[in-house]
Amino acid sequence: MDKPKRASDTPFGVVVKAGNAYFWCACGLSETQPFCDGSHKDTGFSPVRFDATEDDKVFFCGCKATANQPLCDGSHNN
Ligand code: FES
Ligand code: FES
Repeated sequence: MDKPKRASDTPFGVVVKAGNAYFWCACGLSETQPFCDGSHKDTGFSPVRFDATEDDKVFFCGCKATANQPLCDGSHNN
């Protein structure tokens, strides 16, 4: 796999909790988007860790084309 699969055309809004770590799916194959479920095995992709520093709602990239992994940067509109 050289390109990730476009899992969604829009970001996933997730309420995160301070102190928790989240593992964003970079390959697009996970069935538990936007998070890694281990499906990247043998694809060459690895999940990207996000450490929440505050209780917040963040938007994880669903299209997998963001330049600001793991968060949406608006690239899904391109
Ligand atoms: Fe996509 Fe793990 S399932 S990075
Ligand atoms: Fe990927 Fe917005 S969903 S950049």
